[in-house]
Amino acid sequence: MNQTELNIPSVGFGLWKIAKEDCADAVYQAIKAGYRHLDSACDYGNEKEVGDGIKRAIEDGLCTREDLWVTSKLWNTYHRPAHVQVALERTLADLQLDYLDLYLIHFPIAQPFVPFEERYPPEWMSSEGKMEIEQVPLFETWKAMESVCDLGLTRQIGVCNYNSGLLHDLMSYARIKPTMLQIESHPYLTQTRLIRLAKQYGLSVTAFSPLGALSYLELDMANKNESVLEQAVVKQAAERLGKTPAQVVLRWGIQRGNAIIPKTTNPKRLIENLNIFDFVLSDDEMQAIDELNCNRRFNDPGHFCEAAFNRFHPIYD
Ligand code: A2P
Repeated sequence: MNQTELNIPSVGFGLWKIAKEDCADAVYQAIKAGYRHLDSACDYGNEKEVGDGIKRAIEDGLCTREDLWVTSKLWNTYHRPAHVQVALERTLADLQLDYLDLYLIHFPIAQPFVPFEERYPPEWMSSEGKMEIEQVPLFETWKAMESVCDLGLTRQIGVCNYNSGLLHDLMSYARIKPTMLQIESHPYLTQTRLIRLAKQYGLSVTAFSPLGALSYLELDMANKNESVLEQAVVKQAAERLGKTPAQVVLRWGIQRGNAIIPKTTNPKRLIENLNIFDFVLSDDEMQAIDELNCNRRFNDPGHFCEAAFNRFHPIYD
């Protein structure tokens, strides 16, 4: 099943938190298992290894470059127009690719530039070891995103972690329209209004952390008892369909019309997460899972920036 407008495979392989040493093999195995959509980012710190995995898969004849959909993201420290192209070129060099399918602004947060030779990826901290903010209007960054699109370095451009207000603003000035909004979304954070707005503007939507809390346990940003896989409605649907609870939650994600990018380094789950096209959730099941929404956001700069970097910098109200 494809997102109609973009032809992006609706199940992508998420690369956040895949350790460098596992990453090339994980990418190779994912492509071998049938994944054709890879969700990468400078900030994940593993783009060289992603590139090695892609290269090996292409050399072994598992796919061609054109078969793949590769997304990457502009990090916060490269928002100044002069840095956008160099940041994308670094990502392309690491991925060993000539072009991306999609380049996204990772966060609507601009931070001071950190030279590659000083630290790459720069993460959230400046050279002084503090989280700092740079005054760069997002429209300036977007103009530079349009330029790299004009140059053919990426086929599509888009944004992550934007709210409705930022999306309205972006649509008012974009010469090249964003084609993708990537946001956290799972049954505890359905984001129905934002997704409706994005689609009204003609954007496709990618849901990150489609399994909710599971992604955040290892980061101490969620509790075990917050797992949506334990919900009765999810378990019952899984039982009815002979599928796992994770497959039900992922199926809910694509059946509501979004792309999803589950991450796993477990070979069994790698295949499990792709096998969600041979069953359908009923309208009642879809609605019951929708109703689990409790606006629980796990990936919230308003929380983690203060907890980890001692700076209060909310972007959602
Ligand atoms: P693992 O890599 O050990 O499989 P995200 O929401 O960022 O995609 O993260 C998914 C989290 O859920 C990871 O911690 C991953 O751990 C785990 N996971 C991925 N697929 C499944 C699955 N099918 N069943 C249970 N846990 C899963």
